[in-house]
Amino acid sequence: MVINMIYLDNAATTKPSEAAAVAMMKVVEEFGNPSSLHGAGLRAEKLINTAKQTIAAKLGGSPRALYFTSGGTEANNLAVIGAARARRRGGERVIVSAIEHPSVLEAARQLEREGFDVRFAPVTGEGRVDTDAIKALITPETVVVSVMHVNNETGVIQPVEEIASAVKKAAPKAVLHCDCVQSFGKLPININRLGADLISISAHKIHGFKGVGALYMKDPRVSPIIHGGEQQQGIRPGTENIGGILAFAAAAAECHEDVAAMKKKRALMAAELAAEIGDIQINGSEDHNSGSVLNVSIMGIKAEILLHALERDGVYISTGSACSSHKPQPSHVLTAMGVPQRAITGAVRISFSAATTEEEIKTAARAIAKETAEIRRYM
Ligand SMILES: Cc1ncc(COP(=O)(O)O)c(C=O)c1O
Repeated sequence: MVINMIYLDNAATTKPSEAAAVAMMKVVEEFGNPSSLHGAGLRAEKLINTAKQTIAAKLGGSPRALYFTSGGTEANNLAVIGAARARRRGGERVIVSAIEHPSVLEAARQLEREGFDVRFAPVTGEGRVDTDAIKALITPETVVVSVMHVNNETGVIQPVEEIASAVKKAAPKAVLHCDCVQSFGKLPININRLGADLISISAHKIHGFKGVGALYMKDPRVSPIIHGGEQQQGIRPGTENIGGILAFAAAAAECHEDVAAMKKKRALMAAELAAEIGDIQINGSEDHNSGSVLNVSIMGIKAEILLHALERDGVYISTGSACSSHKPQPSHVLTAMGVPQRAITGAVRISFSAATTEEEIKTAARAIAKETAEIRRYM
């Protein structure tokens, strides 16, 4: 553990909060199985219900519509695969955007193998789903549309509301799923205003623990993807991760959705980098950004080399999404945006948390400039 690290990889994961850790410890005493009929079980069930209320309130929804999962990946799989299979009689078209997280893209590819008519909607150069293109793909036979709220590589906010009204009009049998893993706790979300039917969220992106998430379902008509139990109405069987769930609620309660503060941090980092390093390019829309992510291409370097060089300075950033960083491939998000290969090679993702300070940003920017100069010298 590096003591003086400047952690700027909050889109990959966040540091668990004090409140989350305290809440997690509650299971040492309240260790009952929420499905048990005795008092210990009932107390555990009650704790889960309270956590549901806290989390559902953050979405402007009902606690009864919230189903806990093992994280955002499972929530996305349950939403896309479960909703498509349950609605197959109504049609076979499934539409997902080209910049979705792999847990949506690969779920869609699984449906393709099952014979569904899967379409990938393109994005603009600014990293937003092309609304005309996606509208052209929506047919009355469409059963699932999945468009994320905030992209994990660029921080770009997607036009979900506009897509939602197009889906309602042109595909009455379809559900709209929205992966809100990168927006929950960062942007204010109201499920009705957003217009989504299904929403995925994950605890470890908001200072909770890894391995717990949830799918909010306005309409619970989804086929389970895990079998063998009656928990959560049999839609998501398996004994609930109570400690993780309590910590998730504690972390959610502490989120302030302070978009202006995040945007300030992002703008400061962009300005510092522009002042210190020549030949850089910010990727993704500036106007539609959550502020939590800055994706920047530094020309003439390899992002991976910079990332490792920065470890010497105690600065932690990322090359793209953490999930794909073990098998280096050009980012599918930047590729879909039409970013040139040279810029993709030098693209880094810097992501902030509420705790990131101005001082940390300035120090990190200086370290990035120093290491970039070094790398450029020999590349
Ligand atoms: C947009 C998005 N969706 C889904 C996930 C997966 O969430 P989890 O790590 O909880 O499985 C991530 C994590 O990187 C993400 O950024």
